[in-house]
Amino acid sequence: MEQKETVTLTDNSTGKQIELPILRPTNGTPTIDVRGLYRELGYFTYDPGFLSTASCRSSITYLDGNKGILQYGGYPIEQLAEHSTFLEVCYLLLSGDLPNERELKQFETIITRHTMLHEALKRFYSGFRRDAHPMAIMVGVVGALSAFYHDEIDIHNPEDRMIAAHQLIAKMPTIAAWSYRYANGLPFTYPDNSLSYPDNFLNMMFSMPTEPYKADPFFVKALDLIMILHADHEQNASTSTVRLTGSSEANPFAAISAGIASLWGPAHGGANESVIRMLVDIVESDKDVQYYIDRAKDKNDRFRLMGFGHRIYKNYDPRARIIRKTCHELLEHLGQDNEYQELFDTAMELERIALEDDYFVSRNLYPNVDFYSGIILLAMGIPLTMFTVIFALSRTVGWISHWNEMIQDPESRIGRPRQLYDGALPRDYVPLNKR
Ligand code: ACO
Repeated sequence: MEQKETVTLTDNSTGKQIELPILRPTNGTPTIDVRGLYRELGYFTYDPGFLSTASCRSSITYLDGNKGILQYGGYPIEQLAEHSTFLEVCYLLLSGDLPNERELKQFETIITRHTMLHEALKRFYSGFRRDAHPMAIMVGVVGALSAFYHDEIDIHNPEDRMIAAHQLIAKMPTIAAWSYRYANGLPFTYPDNSLSYPDNFLNMMFSMPTEPYKADPFFVKALDLIMILHADHEQNASTSTVRLTGSSEANPFAAISAGIASLWGPAHGGANESVIRMLVDIVESDKDVQYYIDRAKDKNDRFRLMGFGHRIYKNYDPRARIIRKTCHELLEHLGQDNEYQELFDTAMELERIALEDDYFVSRNLYPNVDFYSGIILLAMGIPLTMFTVIFALSRTVGWISHWNEMIQDPESRIGRPRQLYDGALPRDYVPLNKR
């Protein structure tokens, strides 16, 4: 019989021992199964922020931050970025493998046919103030989808789950573009089924009833790439939020809405916006780039170079390596006399100095994916407040794939972390007039 691999944990105060099984992944870090710990020794584990806790099994995305590796379904992100399209990547994340020609065509047709929103949802927008952040609108409207499609979805039926996934992937660009149109007092543009997924989004963002609009093919390609690179990143904060919300068997639209709320935070999806704000500050100040580099290195100054460094990647973020090339090509494509040239020159100067500076090199602080995606989105004419919305639109497929995986997993339970209680001991209620 095969010997089970274990680690032994000894409670030094009682001498009791427990054998904890080691779970071997197909790739990556071995994991200790601590489920028996509380039952057998009466202890919880303490791991704020889940720095060393695997919350689930997953076969969707593999990531090694030390080696700078990212794979969807085993396929290297570099190959997907070069050869694939966002919709093909959606199919891969949802089903676990690349589609054949017929499957891809069928998938594209399904997504295209679900891009419309229920007309009543249109009225939902007018309930928001004109100056509402588009992410606030996204949280509200995506959550509201559950009111429109709730009864049709049995989450224990795989076909129903796939329908919900298709609806979300298809409708998200429409919801996102309309949040921008509403804030700017522009009429909503309906989806155009003759356009590709990224082209359709740009058309809904920028077309006017008064004149024809044709998106720059370079922008369409760059947006498709940004969407591929942001499609999934395993158990990050927003994905874990979707899983936790969905673990109570909540409606998938409500779970995705929770994911959008989590993504909104500046420590997660908001970094690409911060990059541009930093570049604007630098351009508008009378100081040179070196002054900001020196500030970033000064431990007494809270200033950090936004878009540099990453919690997981201690090597070059593979997504940044890919997108950097596109960013440089796009700036070349736009030529020298565009309105953002000064910002772009500043970004390139920051990148050049930081990549040669020992402070950044020795700490493995490379520009991350958000440094370049912010610049590309700005060059495309996308306003700052829409940056995180585009991240949400791209990540929706990752969220819904994880939700689907969780519902199918026989080991999954309602998420219910424990705590290390640090509060008052039991005491008697004191009447108001005696406090
Ligand atoms: N500018 C200057 N110094 C930095 C930066 C930076 N952007 N990032 C890290 N450092 C320094 C730290 O001061 C620390 O120096 P020390 O070793 O001398 O104390 C060292 O590098 C290690 O940094 P940590 O903060 O320990 O790294 P951590 O992994 O905790 O932080 C983080 C990662 C939060 C992303 C950080 O690099 C940062 O704040 N970057 C700027 C914000 C940003 O771009 N966020 C987007 C990340 S990408 C994404 O979320 C999709």
